[in-house]
Amino acid sequence: MPSLSCAAGTTDVAPPGWPYSATHDRVGIRPLRIRDSGAWSESRIRNEQWLSPWEGRQPAGPEVPWRERHSTQSYSGMLRVLRREAKDGRCLPFAVTYDDELAGQVTVASIVRGAFQSANVGYWVDGRLAGRGVIPTALAMVVDHCFTTVGLHRVEANVRPENIPSRRVVEKLGFRQEALHERFLFIDNAWRDHLGFAVTVDDVPEGLLRRWTSRENA
Ligand SMILES: CC(C)(COP(=O)(O)OP(=O)(O)OC[C@H]1O[C@@H](n2cnc3c(N)ncnc32)[C@H](O)[C@@H]1OP(=O)(O)O)[C@@H](O)C(=O)NCCC(=O)NCCS
Repeated sequence: MPSLSCAAGTTDVAPPGWPYSATHDRVGIRPLRIRDSGAWSESRIRNEQWLSPWEGRQPAGPEVPWRERHSTQSYSGMLRVLRREAKDGRCLPFAVTYDDELAGQVTVASIVRGAFQSANVGYWVDGRLAGRGVIPTALAMVVDHCFTTVGLHRVEANVRPENIPSRRVVEKLGFRQEALHERFLFIDNAWRDHLGFAVTVDDVPEGLLRRWTSRENA
């Protein structure tokens, strides 16, 4: 029987834990859908100022305008790639919802198996919904899923030192600051330093959502 390994190739066996959906109060996580294209494109274009300081792009070649990179056609291309990666067990591309409407994304990427059992996460929320704990709640559900059904041991997040809201997300969830990665990602036309944060399954025996919500209610 085929199994997923470090060099995961295309397999007919669904990778563990995908597809997956969960909700907590008004926040949900579920696979991105083809019919999210209109809402995704509208939100991404409207939030250019909000998102562009934090989003990487390939350094080579001419810069494609933001509006073009976030058209409904670009969404279709992105979704095709993400779905292939998800099928191969390398990625979990979650839509984040608030009251069942698309509100942002949490993407678990670079899933490595073997002795590492690790992945990294990226996330964003529509600026209109910032400050309501949407991403900490979604990320807590995603990490709990990674540490249970998906079977990962470690999840990391890399954040620019200047990105105070994003640092607050990982700090509030109890990720450890582990590293300074110098000139780590090409963002806003330069190689930017990032702080490396991580959490391992042993850190949260009670589950991250439970820890986060009990803290919220304290
Ligand atoms: C980082 C981000 C995902 C946080 O999501 P969120 O759902 O707003 O998270 P929270 O509600 O926990 O708020 C986190 C912090 O944002 C800041 N914040 C709160 N309200 C805010 C608002 N209206 N506008 C901007 N920042 C706000 C606060 O510092 C807050 O920390 P606090 O709870 O200690 O006060 C969101 O700010 C975002 O999408 N930013 C742009 C994209 C990005 O930076 N992605 C991450 C790249 S590593």
